[in-house]
Amino acid sequence: MRVSQKIPAIMQVDFLKQAIANDMLVVDRVLRDNLDSDVALIRNVAEHIINSGGKRLRPVLLLLAARAGGYAGTQHYTLAAIIEMIHTSTLLHDDVVDDSSQRRGKPTANEIFGNAAPVLVGDFLYSRAFQLMVSVNSMRVLRILANATNVIAAGEVMQLMNAGDTTLTEDAYIEIIRHKTAKLFEASTQLGALLANVSPEREDAYVRFGMHLGTAFQIMDDLLDYTGDGDAIGKNLGDDLAEGKMTLPLIHALAHADDADRAIIRRAIESGELADFSRLIEILTRAEALTYTQSRARVEAAHAEACLASEPDSSSRQALLQLCAFAVERSF
Ligand code: IPE
Ligand code: IPE
Ligand code: MG
Ligand code: MG
Repeated sequence: MRVSQKIPAIMQVDFLKQAIANDMLVVDRVLRDNLDSDVALIRNVAEHIINSGGKRLRPVLLLLAARAGGYAGTQHYTLAAIIEMIHTSTLLHDDVVDDSSQRRGKPTANEIFGNAAPVLVGDFLYSRAFQLMVSVNSMRVLRILANATNVIAAGEVMQLMNAGDTTLTEDAYIEIIRHKTAKLFEASTQLGALLANVSPEREDAYVRFGMHLGTAFQIMDDLLDYTGDGDAIGKNLGDDLAEGKMTLPLIHALAHADDADRAIIRRAIESGELADFSRLIEILTRAEALTYTQSRARVEAAHAEACLASEPDSSSRQALLQLCAFAVERSF
């Protein structure tokens, strides 16, 4: 496989660049080395998604948690690559399920290769991640990652079951995103802490940090699907509405809009029609659903920050705290 040393966009965020840009190049190499296959279609699909970039946020979290906990070994590179492989396979599958045509500023794999190839290559990446996990030779690592992978899959199925359900509550929504997104953030920070061999109390702080940060991150992703800049995000806006996905902007608006606006929102969800997207944004704005969603993300980010209050200070801890701000202020 071609080795390109392209630095992911998030590394242009100054505090991260200083903290771990070099480490991330090592992770990228492990990732690429392990995506190689004799099967041409696997190589093509894997190269397509890996070369299109991505923020590499979960590996960043794992490396920073390991360093903040005082880890000085090299296994964090392998674990970070495993985490990104799992993330990548969920994206391949997710874009098929969501019928998305753009990711990371490029056509999705399903757009280029059709649905079958990303489903199968997603399975290849999952199983390759498990092969690598076995090489780490730790039952605890295996348990955390097997559990996270299973919880993510359950989360995606929960979301599918709830598509178009205009009665979905905010609590049920939070439960879904904790499964489908926050769990992998949690596994990332937990694995970092585990490598550093910190006390159970400190490990628990990293678990909760990852869970709250991941929740904030997904709430913002759901907000950006309505309000973001498509070029910056590299995805098409409105994909969630088109799939009848019940995310927080819609849930809040349905609970707070007047009857006429509520009827329009319901119709938009049922039809998935994007023609009147700007009218829907006006309705969401009027119901204060967008500002509410942003503030809900901020609450989660603040919870995340609080989890690290008792951790010894270091540049890695500071970078983790700055990631809480990034999660809720990001435009990509
Ligand atoms: C996309 O995650 C899926 C979500 C959980 C919202 P990222 O926004 O981290 O995707 P990449 O890897 O940077 O493309
Ligand atoms: C996150 O949800 C999906 C995964 C956890 C795989 P989304 O469906 O909102 O993610 P994007 O917007 O497609 O990246
Ligand atoms: Mg999606
Ligand atoms: Mg999304």
